[in-house]
Amino acid sequence: MLETVLSSRAMEFIPQVTEPAAKLYLLVVDADPAARSACSEIAASLGYAVESTGDMGQARDMLHGHVADILLVNMPYGSNQGLELVSEVKLLYPEMSVIVMTASGTVNAAVEAMRRGASDYLSKPFAVDELSTVLERAAASHMTDTASRQLRERLRVSQGLGAMIGHSSEMEKLYRILSKVAQSSHPVLILGESGTGKELVARTIHAYGPNAQKPFLPVDCGSLVPTLIESELFGYVKGAFTGANRSKDGLLVSAEGGTAFLDEVGELSLDLQAKLLRALQEREVRPVGANHRVPIKARIVAATNRDLAAMVEKGTFRKDLFYRLNVVNLRLPSLRNRREDIPPLAAHFLDRISRERGIKFTLSDEALRTMMRYDWPGNVRELENAVQRACALSSGPVLHLGDLPTQLQQHGLEAHRAAALGAAGNTGEAPRVRPLVELEREAILNAIRALNGDKIQAAKLLGIGKTTLYRKLKEFGISDPLPDE
Ligand SMILES: Nc1ncnc2c1ncn2[C@@H]1O[C@H](COP(=O)(O)OP(=O)(O)OP(=O)(O)O)[C@@H](O)[C@H]1O
Ligand SMILES: [Mg+2]
Repeated sequence: MLETVLSSRAMEFIPQVTEPAAKLYLLVVDADPAARSACSEIAASLGYAVESTGDMGQARDMLHGHVADILLVNMPYGSNQGLELVSEVKLLYPEMSVIVMTASGTVNAAVEAMRRGASDYLSKPFAVDELSTVLERAAASHMTDTASRQLRERLRVSQGLGAMIGHSSEMEKLYRILSKVAQSSHPVLILGESGTGKELVARTIHAYGPNAQKPFLPVDCGSLVPTLIESELFGYVKGAFTGANRSKDGLLVSAEGGTAFLDEVGELSLDLQAKLLRALQEREVRPVGANHRVPIKARIVAATNRDLAAMVEKGTFRKDLFYRLNVVNLRLPSLRNRREDIPPLAAHFLDRISRERGIKFTLSDEALRTMMRYDWPGNVRELENAVQRACALSSGPVLHLGDLPTQLQQHGLEAHRAAALGAAGNTGEAPRVRPLVELEREAILNAIRALNGDKIQAAKLLGIGKTTLYRKLKEFGISDPLPDE
């Protein structure tokens, strides 16, 4: 088992990797036959599949034939061959872990090898457990790298349940972190606006982790009353309260090595925060009404759309609990900050509904354009609802702007107007439309003033009769149009 030294801060975690699932293939390259066979024997006894050679050229051939997981290579004194092999290997097989061995006093070669991508070095002579530690470390990092690459690929191609859609750089960044996080067992805090996919991310972490077979148990800390949350989380014993006619395990216990998902964790009362903190610190809980404690073995994933750091400042969320949950944090981007994901997400929801209904739904250009411009305060959930609603309301397979929810339609119309104004060279502000009577009044007054009060001439030029002009002036409440109007 690999010792992990953990800082409580976010990303500086080392995933725990235990027994290699399949044998890892190690290639030992050392011209010294004694050293070569010693290393090979020790590694074989540790469970590695080992091959070895004393020749650099042959090492290259062997690697081309069967890529090793770990390369243990001696840096021969007075030659660059070892370093060249390191560079070549890291270029051709970036996932291979490279460990170099150097004769004592040649630290420079080790430093240079690390600069070229070696992950560790051993300075000769070394003890058996030095070799085994270094190999274990290389194995662990190799396995996380491979697992994270595989998960990335799976996330990219999968379309089924739990699949996450979106290839924006924000999402790609998230997948990279997610794949590493899934392999570890540390608490994770998922932050993001509502509807950004926090629960989906929590389920994905669980589904791609080593304990995917074990339960994923969500508890909504926001919607339950505190006493219920307590008995949900910690369990209770028979007779603990009215109606408790049998004992029940809490979620932290019944997850049995799976994941307990504390949703809306920002809503927990201070009292429950204290109890949760204690449970996490001591890795055991006391069920409601019990005198004994029960050990817990659940991975904790928490989520909130609240600003927990600000709550800590205000004293409404315990700082110590925040640090304990926040070992790794994932911040989900809001949809308006990754608009390129809108079309694939819409297509994903359309596909699903099309399959259910047996009708191939598509979006009109105008509907999609509007969706791309809209700000989506409710994020992916709002998008999903909008697509569902449009499919339910539409009279045919093509979804139009009119089938979208009102807030989107209004947005579409405003965008339309702004575009029209933009085309007319306007600044794009909403147009100021003046009522006709106002324009009429202005036209009549201007004409009379321009003609120094000659109303008969003004009526003629305005193209109306004299009586009409008088009547209008009366309607406008103007007795004398000339002075300081
Ligand atoms: N990247 C994504 N790809 C596919 N579907 C997604 C994605 N993100 C979210 N969804 C879907 O959007 C909906 C909302 O996601 P989810 O419930 O995980 O969000 P949330 O952040 O927990 O929301 P809330 O804050 O409202 O609880 C779900 O139906 C989910 O499957
Ligand atoms: Mg949620």
